[in-house]
Amino acid sequence: MEFSAMVARENDGGIVLARETVGEDFLGAGEVTIKVHYSSANYKDLLAVTPRGGVVRKYPIVPGIDLTGEVIASGTDDFSPGDQVIVHGYDLGVARNGGFAEYSRVPAEWVVRLDGLDTRDAATIGTAGFTAAMSVQALLDRGLTPDDGSVLVTGATGGVGTVAIDILSGLGFEVIASTGKTDANDLLAELGANEVIGRLPLDSDAKPRPLNKANWAAAVDSVGGASLAYVLSAIGYGGAVAVSGLTGGTEVPATVLPFILRGVSLLGIDSVFLPIEKRRALWAALGKELRPRHLSTIESFAPITEVDSVLQSIKSGSHSGRTVIGVAGEF
Ligand SMILES: NC(=O)c1ccc[n+]([C@@H]2O[C@H](COP(=O)([O-])OP(=O)(O)OC[C@H]3O[C@@H](n4cnc5c(N)ncnc54)[C@H](OP(=O)(O)O)[C@@H]3O)[C@@H](O)[C@H]2O)c1
Repeated sequence: MEFSAMVARENDGGIVLARETVGEDFLGAGEVTIKVHYSSANYKDLLAVTPRGGVVRKYPIVPGIDLTGEVIASGTDDFSPGDQVIVHGYDLGVARNGGFAEYSRVPAEWVVRLDGLDTRDAATIGTAGFTAAMSVQALLDRGLTPDDGSVLVTGATGGVGTVAIDILSGLGFEVIASTGKTDANDLLAELGANEVIGRLPLDSDAKPRPLNKANWAAAVDSVGGASLAYVLSAIGYGGAVAVSGLTGGTEVPATVLPFILRGVSLLGIDSVFLPIEKRRALWAALGKELRPRHLSTIESFAPITEVDSVLQSIKSGSHSGRTVIGVAGEF
């Protein structure tokens, strides 16, 4: 069996991503073989092709932390040829070959059968959108309701941000979107944001305060860094922040005061090692009650041959929403 893949190889201290014809050895071990329809572009895929990006354990590798497609062979009764599936997380695209290839073989316990979403919708949601859904679910599980007040979403035009806004507004929450992009108001309003503000803190030169006026009941934060410290200082009594990302940095210069004086909670969100039963249940919800209503607004499309330039647009900060990478028929 021979097929096409985008392979990332180390070269002179850099990493080169290029199309190659590869063989069965690129499929690896597992019970389920999938013809890949779509992958997507995630921040982590950019790190996979960035020297010292810190996510890939060993090169060469086929990046692509998301893949959706059709089962073509299965060594387990749990899946049958023709099943429409998504695989993301675990080692995919970081420690074993991922979605930037025509075929993939994975362990059955990584595979989610799609219900209520086609393979393109699921790729639009992808890891980033799934992380948004996990963040919203964590706030709901903590008892948050629209009556509690508004919910802040940082990194609003990003993959996590756009899907979080869409899901939250669909559930009836008042949503405040924080973005660094000055031309994103129309997009964010279309997704359901009630108000758009700049990146936080709004005055980056002001001396940080441990507590600020309580502005929001809760937040979905994929930015981290000084932004997260500010967000924590302005969450209302008993509120919570679901934290998934680090685009604004890993150091969080916060104090304990929001936690001990306002009972604020920090909810850690990790999509990578979420156990498969919880993963399948949340994908089922994404096809029903948590289904984002504006996937066509959030989605852009690029063929696999253009994936490198899409990843570079994430690096330059010009990317917004979710870019689906067409794989089948696009090499
Ligand atoms: N925990 C998990 O399982 C998990 C899963 C998926 C993603 N993540 C993480 O979540 C983060 C977002 O992922 P994504 O896929 O949504 O990425 P993305 O599509 O690239 O979006 C990130 C957004 O962050 C904002 N941003 C970028 N640079 C920034 C900076 N220097 N300071 C503040 N904001 C900045 C931008 O939004 P604006 O221009 O609108 O401000 C950007 O659109 C990443 O750190 C990613 O690694 C974690």
